[in-house]
Amino acid sequence: MHALKHPPLLRKTLLGLAVATALGAAQAQAGEVEVLHWWTSGGEARAANVLKELMEGEGHDWQDFAVAGGGGETAMTVLKSRAMSGNPPSAAQIKGPEIQEWGELGLLGDLDAVAEAEQWDAMLPEIVADMMKHDGQYVAVPVNVHRVNWLWANPEVLDAAGVALPTTLDELFAAGEAIRDAGYVPLAHGGQPWQDATVFETVLLATAGADFYRRALVELDPEALGGEEMIEALATFKRMRELMDDGMSGRDWNIATSMVIGGDAAMQIMGDWAKGEFTAAGLTAGEDYLCAPAPGTAEAFTFNIDSLAMFRVTEEAEREAQQTLARLVLEPTFQEAFNLAKGSIPARPDIDMSEFDQCAQRSLEDFQHTAETGGLVPSMAHGMAVRADVQGAIFDIVTNFFNASDMTPEDAAKRMTSAAQVAM
Ligand code: GAL
Repeated sequence: MHALKHPPLLRKTLLGLAVATALGAAQAQAGEVEVLHWWTSGGEARAANVLKELMEGEGHDWQDFAVAGGGGETAMTVLKSRAMSGNPPSAAQIKGPEIQEWGELGLLGDLDAVAEAEQWDAMLPEIVADMMKHDGQYVAVPVNVHRVNWLWANPEVLDAAGVALPTTLDELFAAGEAIRDAGYVPLAHGGQPWQDATVFETVLLATAGADFYRRALVELDPEALGGEEMIEALATFKRMRELMDDGMSGRDWNIATSMVIGGDAAMQIMGDWAKGEFTAAGLTAGEDYLCAPAPGTAEAFTFNIDSLAMFRVTEEAEREAQQTLARLVLEPTFQEAFNLAKGSIPARPDIDMSEFDQCAQRSLEDFQHTAETGGLVPSMAHGMAVRADVQGAIFDIVTNFFNASDMTPEDAAKRMTSAAQVAM
């Protein structure tokens, strides 16, 4: 009886093994990449789709690992738990100093083969290339350059209120009054820590300038963090509430953008991923909507470089898919199509910009100009300036101060100096 039973069982097992192996081989050939990102708004999703389609065009499988939440805080939390359970995705949107933190954990794989073949060192600006390397090896590939210090505006609302696009903070507050009187929200905002921090760093840039910004938010100089200029920046930042509406608490950034698009609000201070929303709505820069450097910051550029870091993988096919992904990201086809949808400018300076609108042209000019004048600074709010723990501590202070009725700018500045000590 036993003898009769075993052969079919064995056959079944062998068959199972054969099927599993065949499937395994099929998957290996297809080379799957699972990519974690937080590009879920209308404009962002269109941009992410460019990469998905290019990967699929090369025969690879794209596993979308999108975690909603502007600024990526939730995505980073999810990534940490996946990594801790020993199962990270193949690639993830990891930026700035955080690339080093993941590199130090020994979790990132290197992209040196593709970087060498494609001559990334010669192709990328040094400031960009350096950020992508850990211990001298490429572990990430840059997708774009976002400018954070932008003002977006609806020209019809400005006209209805009889005001021009403000170029200084004084003009902004004055225009705000007129816009409010005309029945509109002057400044669309979403009350989330990263959005508060986006407005805060932009105001600080306006009131104190790029050198001070660098001392305070990049070098974490305690004298700058606790000093007069910081106190003034905080006080001005708090005044921005005058321009915002009661419904801002918890609002997503793209909902705030849609208030400008729909004509409920006049303006928004936000990085140029906001342009992706205007573009997705079929609107034209300079006609249907306006872009300008955030008031008082025309001589500065807060940069935010999106990048995809690759996790160390063992399967050859997955590794190959990672290398393909990295290669595609820096090819002109992707750089152009993705950045047209995303609102950013290409990470490669040699891309033909003729298809890009006036906001992108201005961004590129200002990037190059501020790199020479010292006005080019990394965005603290977008993870370019300081490590994640310090950034988190600054976010807490900024948001608490913005929402508290009883915290003075002096108190908040004092707390800033202790936040920086997390870093020491
Ligand atoms: C930034 C990110 C952008 C955009 C934005 C809103 O931090 O660099 O690509 O996604 O958040 O989520």
